[in-house]
Amino acid sequence: MELRQLGQCGLRVSALSLGAMTFGESSTFMKGVTSPDDEARRVFDKAIDVGMNLVDTANIYGDGASEKLTGAWIAGKRDRVLLATKCRFPVTSGEHKAGPHEQGLSRQHILQACEDSLRRLATDHIDLYQVHMQDNAVPIDETMRALDDLVTQGKVRYVGCSNYTGYRLVEAAWSAERMRAHRFVAAQVQWSLVERGLEREVIPACRLLQMGTLIWSPLAAGFLSGKYKRSEAPPAGSRLDTWKDSFKSVSSKDQAWDVLDAVQAMAKRHETTAAAVSLAWLLAKSEVSSIILGARTTLQLDDNLRALSVKLSHEDVRSLDDVSKPKWGYPYDFIGGRQDW
Ligand SMILES: NC(=O)c1ccc[n+]([C@@H]2O[C@H](COP(=O)([O-])OP(=O)(O)OC[C@H]3O[C@@H](n4cnc5c(N)ncnc54)[C@H](OP(=O)(O)O)[C@@H]3O)[C@@H](O)[C@H]2O)c1
Repeated sequence: MELRQLGQCGLRVSALSLGAMTFGESSTFMKGVTSPDDEARRVFDKAIDVGMNLVDTANIYGDGASEKLTGAWIAGKRDRVLLATKCRFPVTSGEHKAGPHEQGLSRQHILQACEDSLRRLATDHIDLYQVHMQDNAVPIDETMRALDDLVTQGKVRYVGCSNYTGYRLVEAAWSAERMRAHRFVAAQVQWSLVERGLEREVIPACRLLQMGTLIWSPLAAGFLSGKYKRSEAPPAGSRLDTWKDSFKSVSSKDQAWDVLDAVQAMAKRHETTAAAVSLAWLLAKSEVSSIILGARTTLQLDDNLRALSVKLSHEDVRSLDDVSKPKWGYPYDFIGGRQDW
């Protein structure tokens, strides 16, 4: 498997990595769309066997179950696999309502959440500890200092972030530089042929700050796999059958279906699948360090792995860029008419 440098740090990550959001039964947002544990185990083993060297989980996935399963399955392979997890959102279970210090990016919560993740993962260190979404209620210096302390204590090797705006990435970099603290080495971002909003500010900021990117929902929760059809109800039991609002949001856009048509036609020409073409479009982007695959079954994993053997030409990439181009708005259109922003 191709290895790519994660931004400017010393880590080399496999071009495809494994998402563990489907591991463990969930009582929250992933309820009904995770894998049975035996199938999740097969997905995990296969992913490592084919050379994926990074597994991405979060304290909230499966209300903690994803970290526990990942920790158990990684035993014996720990030195071969980079363990990435996240904190920010409350880990809820049952009737318990999270208090103010059981969520957010205060020093108080980050230090506690890290201890909890280390315990669930049954490991003495996390390779990449990511804050799951920016928290403007907490001064950026407090967040960056808490993360830096975790690195200094040896509990965390590298720090990253997810779901940050461009200006907040810059603030975080300034803060780390000012305090001589460890900086974010990578941003975990949603990017796909039907979600390109991050190209306005976040990707340019990552480029400027020489941060790596890990891509989440590369198939838009399965929409780009090709199993959803125009004017048909989603397949029963699929993620977008369960997540009705997400399906409505994507399926109400004509452009999303036009993108899918273009992807299907290209898949036919390359004798591959819609999922493989959609992932290959991301692999062709120089800013992408690793795509985090979401596979509920080994069959889906096999399908998605086909992306590695699809070679899209410049014209292929450009035509997918064109059909999926969002309305950028001001000032991007103003600048874009003259030069890249
Ligand atoms: N940082 C964040 O905020 C954030 C947010 C979301 C995800 N993530 C990370 O990113 C990873 C991937 O995200 P994602 O699960 O949303 O990725 P995705 O690839 O967009 O969606 C995965 C889902 O699509 C369906 N699918 C995938 N491949 C398929 C195929 N070849 N054929 C048919 N259906 C297919 C499956 O759902 P069904 O079988 O249920 O339809 C699968 O669970 C997660 O595991 C997590 O680590 C991070």
